[in-house]
Amino acid sequence: MKTYSTAEALRSALNTARQTGKSVAFVPTMGNLHEGHISLVRRARQLADVVVVSIFVNPLQFGANEDLDNYPRTITADKEKLFAEGTQYLFLPQVEEIYPEGMEIHSKVCVPELGNRHCGASRPGHFDGVTTVVNKLFNIVQPDVAVFGEKDFQQLSIIRKMVRDLLMPVNVVGVATARAEDGLALSSRNGYLNEEQRQIAPVLHRILQETRQAIACGYDSYRELECHARLSLQAAGFEPDYFNICDARDLLDVTPETEEIVILAAAKLGSTRLIDNVTHNLN
Ligand code: PAJ
Repeated sequence: MKTYSTAEALRSALNTARQTGKSVAFVPTMGNLHEGHISLVRRARQLADVVVVSIFVNPLQFGANEDLDNYPRTITADKEKLFAEGTQYLFLPQVEEIYPEGMEIHSKVCVPELGNRHCGASRPGHFDGVTTVVNKLFNIVQPDVAVFGEKDFQQLSIIRKMVRDLLMPVNVVGVATARAEDGLALSSRNGYLNEEQRQIAPVLHRILQETRQAIACGYDSYRELECHARLSLQAAGFEPDYFNICDARDLLDVTPETEEIVILAAAKLGSTRLIDNVTHNLN
């Protein structure tokens, strides 16, 4: 596995690979890799000849009171995992490489509307940070295909929309959420949970599944279901942020035309914010 810290060096290595007819799959990450990230790398290997993974903790997507400084950085272990999965290229830039003029950069990519709801409502500017850095990384890697997790369903929807709206020549592929045995979605932030919180954490997924089950049984008073779920989360010890039953296409309210529902949830356990989602096909 070759590691590059500059855009120029990575670009030139990838140009050489492309000239020999190789296709490129890209998996952007912020490191502290777990089985969820690794499942994306495995999918990427099936999709192209060459796999590029980036590890970059992107300051632009963290709010002032968020965990940028404490975000877990485990580069040595991450490199071992990526090497074991047959990753050919690792892009590991410093902040200055991606933001040479500092954080007050001149150009941003934002996906309005979709970026302001759900997680965007409680994390203003977060998705602008995500779309801006993913755009920069796409421009550096120029992948044929880019792989993202359904765990961050809203992020995946926003990236798909950015690619569509801006005519980016990238095929975006989503991968199902990897979970612990008790249902908790794997996340770098699970490491912040103490033992007691870790016991409670899977309740988030359980409540999502119960809600999906109610919908599958024909219950369609969505506001009532959302309200009931929020109360159940509170009773379990969470501080719910949102619990929204939406149309999976646009993350807006369900309509008679909705074919697939997504239930999006975010809730805090202590100071750790967990997100998860489940989908349900109405056909
Ligand atoms: P990060 O949280 O490191 O996640 C990197 C990728 O792994 C994302 O596509 C995310 O959806 C996926 N992922 C995380 N947990 C997963 C799980 N349990 N199962 C399946 N996939 C999972 O998301 C980001 O980084 C950043 O916002 C990034 C896109 C890299 C831009 O900075």
